[in-house]
Amino acid sequence: MADRYLHLTGTAPGRFLTRRLGLPQPAPLRRWSLETPRLEGPLLHLTAGDSAIGGELAKVLAATGLAVEQRSERPAAIVLDATGVTSARGLAQVHAALHPVVRSQAPGGRIVVIGTPPSSEDHHQAAAQQALEGFVRSLGKEIGRGSTVQLVRLPAGAAPVAAESTLRFLLSPRSAYVSGQVIELTDAAPDPAADPDAPLTGRTALVTGAARGIGASVASVLARDGARVIVLDVPQAGDDLARTADRLGATALPLDITAPDAAARIAAGAPDGLDVLVHNAGITRDRRLANMPAERWAQVIEVNLDSVLRTTDELLASGAVNRGGRIVATASIAGIAGNNGQTNYAASKAGIIGLVRSLGPRAAAEHGVTVNAVAPGFIETKMTAAVPLFIREAGRRMNSLSQGGLPVDVAETVAWFAQPGSAAVNGQVLRVCGQSLLGA
Ligand SMILES: NC(=O)c1ccc[n+]([C@@H]2O[C@H](COP(=O)([O-])OP(=O)(O)OC[C@H]3O[C@@H](n4cnc5c(N)ncnc54)[C@H](O)[C@@H]3O)[C@@H](O)[C@H]2O)c1
Repeated sequence: MADRYLHLTGTAPGRFLTRRLGLPQPAPLRRWSLETPRLEGPLLHLTAGDSAIGGELAKVLAATGLAVEQRSERPAAIVLDATGVTSARGLAQVHAALHPVVRSQAPGGRIVVIGTPPSSEDHHQAAAQQALEGFVRSLGKEIGRGSTVQLVRLPAGAAPVAAESTLRFLLSPRSAYVSGQVIELTDAAPDPAADPDAPLTGRTALVTGAARGIGASVASVLARDGARVIVLDVPQAGDDLARTADRLGATALPLDITAPDAAARIAAGAPDGLDVLVHNAGITRDRRLANMPAERWAQVIEVNLDSVLRTTDELLASGAVNRGGRIVATASIAGIAGNNGQTNYAASKAGIIGLVRSLGPRAAAEHGVTVNAVAPGFIETKMTAAVPLFIREAGRRMNSLSQGGLPVDVAETVAWFAQPGSAAVNGQVLRVCGQSLLGA
């Protein structure tokens, strides 16, 4: 559904009027396209404190394809290496580094602060590194003009190359609707990809709920990145599913994910094994708890959570997910913040968060597979078009970018999780919500 307000503020009279009324000023977001695959402008590499990774990090930043500079008049991206900030006093260097440059950054810019996990043994280091989280979340709220701010934590002693796929994503138009996020990396070395511009070449990906909406967009972005794609949806959505499959050169698998033999039929549909498994299918059956019959509760838990647990367990146990595989599930900010009338849905989506945090480290150790979740905020789909006008407008504006996201924003995040280079991204829940105020 079109965001008319965003169009209005894109016109001179609309901008004048909405400014006078003190209304939100959403900036049009620049997303990935063949014509603009990268940010337009240099990358400013700054350091606060004594960094042990400066030289290696510079090489990783150069791999983003942006021109890396130590001084820049108008940077498109700024990376602040704050891994060496270990005391409250040292935080002054964070201010000293960013204060002079933050205003000169180009619109639609990216700021990434790199830190380390707060220590359980050194409370001064822990305080300083945790401080970066509050800093980043606040800067994300005030920066405006379609710019985003994130914190990436790299374990002490880990080679910066572990962060390469993450930095490529965050410092690109692909992460346009991701802001105010904290990503905790492991020290796992990236699996090599044949072609950085088509990192999923030779890989097989299956996306559930892919007949329409976010799932169809995920399938499309994975295909763009080189994957052979299998699109799955309920048999009743067969026509839409066939159209999506035709458009992408994908294989259609009409199947209800709650069927008892779903995992076996998925495995049969991918005889060479799956490299990427995206659990996207989801439903809502909203009612307040006092009015909610048991079957509405059960349907949502079954589709959104139980079938995800069951098929994941069975596909991992049978070896149908290849080593180096990537499992991506779909949570929601409702699973983080809760939502009126959605006790069943929010429970199912919070359950997804529990699943990825627990299974991620074990799946990596036992199967060489990562498990992550994307948590969309307000995304413009049929699901949100059905929301009553006033609540829909509130959902769209109550975030740092003052607009809803698009299915492609979720899809780009899934594609980053899915990359061979993202081995160090595991057990993470990334919100794609424009830094929604809900649950922030
Ligand atoms: N749209 C949003 O703003 C938003 C926000 C947060 C989370 N999400 C989540 O993102 C995912 C996709 O959402 P969407 O907006 O594209 O929804 P959608 O309703 O447009 O699409 C969901 C798809 O899943 C399919 N599906 C449902 N039950 C299934 C089953 N048992 N087996 C196989 N397929 C099944 C549907 O047929 C449909 O094609 C869902 O998990 C949803 O909860 C969406």
